[in-house]
Amino acid sequence: MRLDVFTLFPEHFDWFLRQRHVANALAEGSEVRFRNYRDTTPLRAGQVDDSPYGGGAGMVMRVDVVDAALEAAYGSDRDRVRKIALTPSGRLFDEALAAELAAGEHLALLCGRYEGFDERVVEHLADEAISIGHYVLAGGELAAMVIADAVLRKLPGALGDAESAIEESYSEALEGAPEYPHYTRPADYRGWGVPEVLLSGDHARVREWRLAQARERAE
Ligand code: 6GU
Repeated sequence: MRLDVFTLFPEHFDWFLRQRHVANALAEGSEVRFRNYRDTTPLRAGQVDDSPYGGGAGMVMRVDVVDAALEAAYGSDRDRVRKIALTPSGRLFDEALAAELAAGEHLALLCGRYEGFDERVVEHLADEAISIGHYVLAGGELAAMVIADAVLRKLPGALGDAESAIEESYSEALEGAPEYPHYTRPADYRGWGVPEVLLSGDHARVREWRLAQARERAE
């Protein structure tokens, strides 16, 4: 997988890149690259944004600036990349979309800043728009990290072998994410117990109980 992040703030990702599952994914051959809109802007003095037509507060990322960044990165190969604009009005990100993105070869995450993108970025330059929730962030960088985290951990080798095997059996047995409650030692803490079934050693009953819990949580 190759993941390109278009941003004005590549240094915001330093912490993210140091996380173990991310480092593992990179060691396994995945690549994360950064493209700073500022480096390829066709405007003078590194300008990348402008005030909104119609008036109002804040600044808007310009469509020509985003286009120039894509051109510099991909030239005529732009169509081979799945280009995602990160905006609070986009399609809501979820585990199914993470799996779909993880199956792709080459993703571009376009981060906006200020009041967001000129709508023509979403309409004409990006293939789709994604949001990570119903709230507004100051920029797409945190959303890009959330998406990159959820996608990269699905790649082979990102989690340890044991972990990924467990994850897999969880999802198969549980019709999706492992959303049941977990417990570990001590079995009794301040009188707070652990469901008896988990201590029973009866794997079939444990599986049944977890599936029931997962279903309940999905409601
Ligand atoms: Cl993708 N961007 C911004 N700026 N805010 C958000 C978001 C994205 N998703 C939820 N809120």
